[in-house]
Amino acid sequence: MSGGDKLDFEIRPNPAAVSAADRAALLANPGFGRVFTDHMVTIRYAEGKGWYDARVEARAPIPMDPAAAVLHYAQEIFEGLKAYRTTDGAVTMFRPEANAARFIASAGRMAMPELPAETFVESLRQLVEIDREWIPDGPDASLYLRPFMFASEVFLGVRPANEYLYCVIASPAGAYFTGGVKPITVWVSPDYTRAAPGGTGAAKCGGNYATSLVAQAEAIEAGCDQVVFLDAVERRFVDELGGMNVFFVYDDDTLVTPPLTGTILPGITRDAILTLAAESGLRTQERPVSFADWQADAASGRLREVFACGTAAVITPIGRVKFPDGEFLVGGGEPGRTTNALRQQLVAIQRGEAEDRHGWVRQVL
Ligand SMILES: Cc1ncc(COP(=O)(O)O)c(C=O)c1O
Repeated sequence: MSGGDKLDFEIRPNPAAVSAADRAALLANPGFGRVFTDHMVTIRYAEGKGWYDARVEARAPIPMDPAAAVLHYAQEIFEGLKAYRTTDGAVTMFRPEANAARFIASAGRMAMPELPAETFVESLRQLVEIDREWIPDGPDASLYLRPFMFASEVFLGVRPANEYLYCVIASPAGAYFTGGVKPITVWVSPDYTRAAPGGTGAAKCGGNYATSLVAQAEAIEAGCDQVVFLDAVERRFVDELGGMNVFFVYDDDTLVTPPLTGTILPGITRDAILTLAAESGLRTQERPVSFADWQADAASGRLREVFACGTAAVITPIGRVKFPDGEFLVGGGEPGRTTNALRQQLVAIQRGEAEDRHGWVRQVL
């Protein structure tokens, strides 16, 4: 396929699909990322041929040559988004076109081919259609979709590969917060940074997460939930968490988030929050926030709330901040009113319970 040609998906239903009873047992408490549906999507790419062989087939291990380029030079990107079952039985996704655009941007940074946005969105729709029984019921449950692409060419030379495999898998997910939204404790990493200017921070490539793991392990060891990365040049300014963007709420109703300068992931939740906040009368600013100011403004009370945001948990209040020399609370360690209000507003739009004024919600079934 090239340009705007439409790619047809060959559907091969899984002959050994999980029984309804076993599926119900798995969906009762799926947790996150451990239970998978019966099918996957695969599409191949070869230089000179373009995208071809689009399939919906039984989820199965992917045979891989030990010299497949991804295993050596990590040419790999991914996305993450959710499909929801609405109260009237429809199935929706939140801004899948934004994930498609970010997938294209990530591919560009990693010297990989672009998957057309319409093929990306159609691949998600195909998987959700065949595995729709796997979408869990319940107010906070969803089917997490994981599209990804990697260099499959069998070649050890260091250059962009000529062959790729695009794949989508799906994993039912239960409520992120069981028993109410609880503020998290974050660890500000003194030693490790996530992404330098000119690096891959804005791309959703597996390598960014590989480098974050040692810092996240340090956070867990320090009794924290998540790591916060500072900028790689001055080690002064807050970039983002290992897997979430960050927002600061000040007592004059200003909402501040670090700017998209290429070192942080341009979160789709971040973007939606900036829009909703501006509409609710908050002043929004995309500007650097130093860790020193974070600490000083939390102490003076000028900084009222801090929260993290992303697809997984939508909005998570940050109550406590730890670093090697000490720790401090934000807003007394309790979730703040702006955090709660933005969370409620966004979740209601995502769930089809509030008016979708921006055309963010896509009904796919
Ligand atoms: C490093 C990082 N930052 C931010 C986000 C939030 O992005 P989004 O709101 O698109 O899920 C994610 C999650 O995808 C992430 O992995």
